[in-house]
Amino acid sequence: MTRLPVMGLALICLMVGSWGSDAQAADREKLLTEPGVYGTFAIFTLNEEWAKQDPATRIVRLTLLKGVVEQHREHVAIDLYLLRGLSDQGDLLFRIHAAELYQTQEFLLDLKSSQFGRHLKTVGIMHGFTKKPNYVPGFSDQMKADLNAVIEPGKKPYAIVIPIRKSAEWWGLDQEKRATMMQEHTAATLPYLKTVQRKLYHSSGLDDLDFITYFETSKLEDFHSLVLSLEKVQEFRYTRRFGHPIILGTMKSLDEVVELLAQ
Ligand code: HEM
Repeated sequence: MTRLPVMGLALICLMVGSWGSDAQAADREKLLTEPGVYGTFAIFTLNEEWAKQDPATRIVRLTLLKGVVEQHREHVAIDLYLLRGLSDQGDLLFRIHAAELYQTQEFLLDLKSSQFGRHLKTVGIMHGFTKKPNYVPGFSDQMKADLNAVIEPGKKPYAIVIPIRKSAEWWGLDQEKRATMMQEHTAATLPYLKTVQRKLYHSSGLDDLDFITYFETSKLEDFHSLVLSLEKVQEFRYTRRFGHPIILGTMKSLDEVVELLAQ
C-alpha cells in the first residue's frame, strides 16, 4: 500500500470513530438474539469502475461508506463479510438486523446512493425473521440440555449462508410428525455443536424461500460433515431447495473491509 492510503485510513478512523464503540448504537445483542427481528442478507459485487479509481478517491468513498454505516447504527445491526476470492456470488455480503424492515431498506437506499454505493452492483437480497423455536419446546429434556452445549471460544472466521425451501408435503404434515423428524435432525447435529454456531431465519411469504440458515465456524471440515449427516435424515427428503446459492465468506470488521478495499 502507498503512503497516502495509510494516512487516509487513519483519517477515516479519526473522522467517524471506531466500529461498535458508540453508545447510540442499536442494541446489537438484542437484535442478534431475540425473536421477531428481521434479518436481511444483501450481496454485492464491486463494479469495474472501482478498480480504476486511484487510492485517494477510494479512501474518500470508503469514508462515505463508514459514514452511512455510522448513521444507521442507531437502528440496525450491520455485519460485513468478504466473499471475494471464496465465492463467485459476489464481493461483499451485508447482514442487517432490524426491528422493522423499512429501517433496513433506509440503510440500503443510503448505501446505494452514496458515492461508494454507486460502485456496488446488487447480486441478491434475501429476507427472513427470527422466531421462537417451533419444535425445541417439545424435545426431550436431554436433547434440550445437549442443545445448550457451549460453543468453543475463539474466532470463527467463516460464515456460510444456505437458503432452504421445503416441499408442500412437509407443510401438510401435522406438527407431531414434523417434530419427530426435527428431533432426528437435531440429534444428527449434536456432534457439531461445539464448532458450528447457527442461526435460523424464517422467510415464507417474505421471499421465494422458507428459511435462511446462517452458520459461523472455524472448522469448515466439521461443517462439511454436519451437512453430510443432515442429508441422511428423513426430514432432508422434504427439502426442495438447498442453497442455490450457498454463500461462503469471511467475517470482517468495517475497518478491515475498508483497509482491504482501499488497496
Ligand atoms: C450445529 C448445527 C445445527 C443444529 C444444532 C441445528 C438444530 C436445529 C433445531 C433445534 C431446529 C428446530 C428449531 C425449532 O424448534 O424451530 C432446526 C431447524 C432447522 N434447521 Fe437445523 N441445526 C443445525 C444445522 C443445520 C444445517 C447445516 C442446516 C441446513 C443447511 C439446517 C437447517 C435447518 C432448517 C431449514 C430448520 C427449520 C426446519 C423447519 O422448521 O421446518 N440446520 N435446526
